[in-house]
Amino acid sequence: MLVELVLCPISLAGAAAYLVKLKLYNQPKGISGTAYEPFFGRAMAHGMGARDDASAYLLAPGLPALSPLIWWLLMWPTGLASRIAGYKPALFAGPTTRPAKLMQMMALRNEFFDETLREAAAVVEQVVILGAGWDTRAYEQLKGADVRIFEVDTPATQQAKVEALNAAGIDSSHVTFVETDFNQASWLEALRQHGFDPARTTYILWEGVTMYLPEDAVRETLACVTDLAPGSRIAFDYFANELIEGKGALKVLAWCFRVGIGLTYGEHFMFGLPMRTAARDTAAAFLESSGLTLGRYETLGAEGKLVIFYGFAVGEHR
Ligand SMILES: C[S@@+](CC[C@H](N)C(=O)[O-])C[C@H]1O[C@@H](n2cnc3c(N)ncnc32)[C@H](O)[C@@H]1O
Repeated sequence: MLVELVLCPISLAGAAAYLVKLKLYNQPKGISGTAYEPFFGRAMAHGMGARDDASAYLLAPGLPALSPLIWWLLMWPTGLASRIAGYKPALFAGPTTRPAKLMQMMALRNEFFDETLREAAAVVEQVVILGAGWDTRAYEQLKGADVRIFEVDTPATQQAKVEALNAAGIDSSHVTFVETDFNQASWLEALRQHGFDPARTTYILWEGVTMYLPEDAVRETLACVTDLAPGSRIAFDYFANELIEGKGALKVLAWCFRVGIGLTYGEHFMFGLPMRTAARDTAAAFLESSGLTLGRYETLGAEGKLVIFYGFAVGEHR
């Protein structure tokens, strides 16, 4: 932390340059801003030797709100602190304790999706990364796997990603890119038009997306999974509706999120589920109303013990 403190002018210069490029270049083109946050978390974990993601490091300099210099300014201080002192902030660096603590939020998120993807990739025939953003699992864990891989996102975000992949020399020939808008079109229909076969078992990675959608769009996406072959599943995360609505004990945290996400990225939270009591049962009932069965489930913090606000679930079509 001392090294980080001494070098913080470098990190701050990187953050300022990133925000300027985000506002002037990224947002006007309609490219996702919130896709950077989880990406930074995964890249940071790689830089500290906590999780392999070399593709994230290669991809980063070509992303629209970054550049080789901005990326270096953002990452070098923490990377150096990590090399000198073995510094690994719990926020990014797993393995996490279970139940995970608040400070392990991003590490838990990475672990949940990495683990459910690893388990599924051994048994399903197709993987869909829905709202893929800057996710690089298709070029890391799934490289060489015997599955068909589809990445789905809005046209602007996806085009920017494909350009960055090409600039980085990352082979994406095993990935089919599909453009859609969850609010306006059926992603399943868009996938079908690109060779996706609903009769084959599928794992859908839907990370960091539900909170930005209206409830109807979340329900529609979950219901689509029942049109796929039995054995198909969707892994997703969601926030507590107490956080979305800024109520009770989560009022301050909600304000921080609202200011941070709203001001920085111009995006807003919309969807959440009650988590104050019986979070698992509530998630199960919500999935059931869309025809799915709750499989693996976790929360940040012990269920029923803390005021929890972040849940991770797998909805299975049995
Ligand atoms: C917070 S980012 C998460 C990205 C990635 N899944 C991750 O966790 O690193 C949300 C992603 O969902 C996509 N997205 C948001 N709303 C969408 C919509 N209506 N249609 C299609 N994609 C959308 C954004 O473009 C962005 O890539």
